[in-house]
Amino acid sequence: MIGARVIRNLALVGFMGTGKSSVGRLAAESVRFAFLDTDRVIEARAGKTISEIFAQEGEAAFRDWERRIVEELARRGQTVIATGGGLPANEANLASLKTHALVVCLWASPETIYARVRNHSHRPLVNEPDPLENIRHLLAVREPYYRQADVLVNTERRSLREVAQQVIHQFRQAQ
Ligand code: S3P
Repeated sequence: MIGARVIRNLALVGFMGTGKSSVGRLAAESVRFAFLDTDRVIEARAGKTISEIFAQEGEAAFRDWERRIVEELARRGQTVIATGGGLPANEANLASLKTHALVVCLWASPETIYARVRNHSHRPLVNEPDPLENIRHLLAVREPYYRQADVLVNTERRSLREVAQQVIHQFRQAQ
């Protein structure tokens, strides 16, 4: 519990390339929770990839998908939720997650993020002429939202397993 909040789930937020899905899977295994990745849920529901949604329907349509999925998450329990990098950059999404989950933000510098995602063509927001600059800009815009997470975990120079251990430790403390 944090104050009067009942923590049923664990939500991982943070920029792309911070390891939300990989860390989330490890954490879910460790605490025996289900694992859910909002991007994968959206792809399954929409019947197309995130890149296709961005290309065919635009980013606004993708953000609508995210809002709908976030509303549904409030009904879940014992779930580790990995979110898309832009999902918490919307006050309502973040507030909704906080009603049922401990919100943990995974953090990395723009340079580290770029090194991790540079060869990932499935991420539309880094397929830009100057991806590092785009990452710097987006991270600066989103930082105020990410900082509203309950816990901030630095992922620099740490293995996925180490990060997952830290996340689980924070989750157990909060319950
Ligand atoms: C996005 C991050 C992606 C995905 C979409 C938009 C973003 O998720 O939701 O491409 O706005 O940062 P990951 O953070 O899992 O890469």
